[in-house]
Amino acid sequence: MSNLVPSGPDAFSRAGELLRQGGLVAFPTETVYGLGADARDDGAVGRIYTAKGRPSFNPLIVHVSDLGTARTYVEFTPVAERLAAAFWPGALTLVLPLKAGSVISPLVTAGLGTLAVRVPDHSVAQAVLAAFGGPVAAPSANPSGRVSPTTAAHVVQGLGDAVDLIVDGGACGVGLESTIVDCTGTPRLLRAGGVPLHAIEACVGQPLAQQIDAHIPSAPGQLQSHYAPSGSVRLNVERPQADEVYLGFGPMQADLNLSPSGDLVEAAARLFACLHELDAKGAERIAVAPVPMIGLGLAINDRLKRAAAPRNA
Ligand code: TXA
Ligand code: MG
Repeated sequence: MSNLVPSGPDAFSRAGELLRQGGLVAFPTETVYGLGADARDDGAVGRIYTAKGRPSFNPLIVHVSDLGTARTYVEFTPVAERLAAAFWPGALTLVLPLKAGSVISPLVTAGLGTLAVRVPDHSVAQAVLAAFGGPVAAPSANPSGRVSPTTAAHVVQGLGDAVDLIVDGGACGVGLESTIVDCTGTPRLLRAGGVPLHAIEACVGQPLAQQIDAHIPSAPGQLQSHYAPSGSVRLNVERPQADEVYLGFGPMQADLNLSPSGDLVEAAARLFACLHELDAKGAERIAVAPVPMIGLGLAINDRLKRAAAPRNA
């Protein structure tokens, strides 16, 4: 039987059953496709790290169906309450102190005393959570370091048989991973993402501290090379060279365009799909047009910077 199935009641009940058995299920969220496992099951969570080739010191986000369920695993702070009320369900992940005696596998938190938690705003993700009835640890469903998946086909290409079930729910609407805010102390931005920073700051009522270049990779952005296509990537290019494939933004001549009209929401939704497409075309040298540093442009530029970063051999 194929591991790729269209979303629907059959897919949801199979997903729930597989998760209960310790299996791996890929499913769409509004941000990117996640590679899910029972967050309480060490063996299942271990399989996530193996399937992705992910370093075990890089902790995972736990997905729950609602705020009430999140409260059973973590201690909420007043700021976290405000952020959850404003942005959940949605593309915001909160890092909070793990409750004592928590059932969450220590492999999920990589041994930290904190947990990253999120309520996804996608009917398929919610249906999978409901069918399973427990917390689902889910990183993006791509091999570690590579471009995140925004379609089921991307998951098949990247992980294939390493996943027990891939629920096809179409393309992800936001297209960038969630914004991660550490609320264990003064709120800090750990990763720019689908909820723009200015919206978070407006809700918190003050500018957020940003954790830049920390030596512990407390968010994936801290691993320099990430979101990388096979080809090399050059940024802020106004005029590409003859042997470069040009990824444009705004009205211009380009091989592919993130958003011909210069719309940052569209560009975010298309970014990873464009990088996957350039990979599929075998593009060896990719030049990317400048993308403004406003709104979702912060997260887009963050991903582009890491796609362009020097790679480990
Ligand atoms: O939009 C998303 O966030 C997607 C979808 C599937 O929900 N998930 C996602 O997961 O992007 P992942 O694993 O690719 O990135 C999550 C990052 C981890 O790499 C980790 O660095 C950070 O969240 N994280 C997880 N737990 C943490 C913790 N306790 N403290 C600080 N950072 C944490
Ligand atoms: Mg990821």
